[in-house]
Amino acid sequence: MANLSNNNNTDRTLDQSLRPANWHEYIGQDKVKTNLKILIEAAKKRSEPVDHLLLYGPAGLGKTTLAYIIAREMNTNIRITSGPAIEKVGDLASILTNLSAGDILFIDEAHRLNKAVEEILYPAMENRMLHIIIGKGPSARTLQLDLPPFSLIAATTRAALLSNPLRSRFGATFRLDFYGLNDIENILRRSASLMNLSVDLESLGLIAASSRCTPRVANRLLKRVRDYAEVEGEGVVTKEIATKALNLLEVDHLGLESADRRLMEAIIKKFNGGPVGLQALAAATSEELDTIEDMYEPYLLQLGFIQRTARGRIATKLAYEHLGLQSPPENQNLL
Ligand SMILES: Nc1ncnc2c1ncn2[C@@H]1O[C@H](COP(=O)(O)OP(=O)(O)O)[C@@H](O)[C@H]1O
Ligand SMILES: [Mg+2]
Repeated sequence: MANLSNNNNTDRTLDQSLRPANWHEYIGQDKVKTNLKILIEAAKKRSEPVDHLLLYGPAGLGKTTLAYIIAREMNTNIRITSGPAIEKVGDLASILTNLSAGDILFIDEAHRLNKAVEEILYPAMENRMLHIIIGKGPSARTLQLDLPPFSLIAATTRAALLSNPLRSRFGATFRLDFYGLNDIENILRRSASLMNLSVDLESLGLIAASSRCTPRVANRLLKRVRDYAEVEGEGVVTKEIATKALNLLEVDHLGLESADRRLMEAIIKKFNGGPVGLQALAAATSEELDTIEDMYEPYLLQLGFIQRTARGRIATKLAYEHLGLQSPPENQNLL
């Protein structure tokens, strides 16, 4: 089946058209919003760029959206790049020297910056200095350039993978949490109206419940339910249409997809409930390590279906119950 958490082109366009453009449209995450608004107001009063900011949390919760809103509120340009896109020191040097005063540099997937590139960032963040080494061997020399005042906004799904020196150079760090059902319903209502789609309350609730508490997933489900309504119905989303569409997508009432279920089944059936190391689990399910950690695990952890221990992942009693499997009472590892 189509993976609902992955990015593809159509969904990227959808992301953009439904992306909130201002605080009013950015639903939920109230604490983060309040803090950011203060930070922005204060920076504006001093006519300074905002501090360097680190945004972290699972995929699809609104990190990129926040970066755009901050740029808009600050009335500045935003320059978008990502950890893996900056391969060489020279790539970053050229990005930095091309910034204008007040610009925001957004680095997505910051945990994938390589070490050499990261080291160029330190002085740039700290004193707006660019240190580059020119030449090799005994004739090598360091060139120092002043950079314009700028703000770095970094986003990551894995704050723990950022090096300490990098993490400590951010003026503020914000963690995005999974959304409440209410917030997701409001997001869906807004999206449906932007899509000119008629959805009843009950269907909205069903889609919200299957959304993994994640706006991006909620919007994708809504879009697929709309497709189904257009092909199999009158274009109107009713409870029956929503239920059938979600079934067809193999998304259950908790938002778990077949891949999530396969993962839990592997822990239970192949590894006797765990603990099992991530690598063995990846091999057993033919999934990428990163995909497991970024896409599946955060929500399964949130549901309490799996737990991380020092010795690996364990499936909890809740996972057995959800899959309709008998949990072995003698299993010491079960929580
Ligand atoms: N707080 C929010 N309110 C409304 N929609 C949101 C919100 N956060 C995210 N979205 C929707 O989810 C999509 C994914 O958000 P995005 O910022 O790309 O997530 P991330 O960068 O954390 O992976 C956005 O295009 C937007 O449509
Ligand atoms: Mg993003």
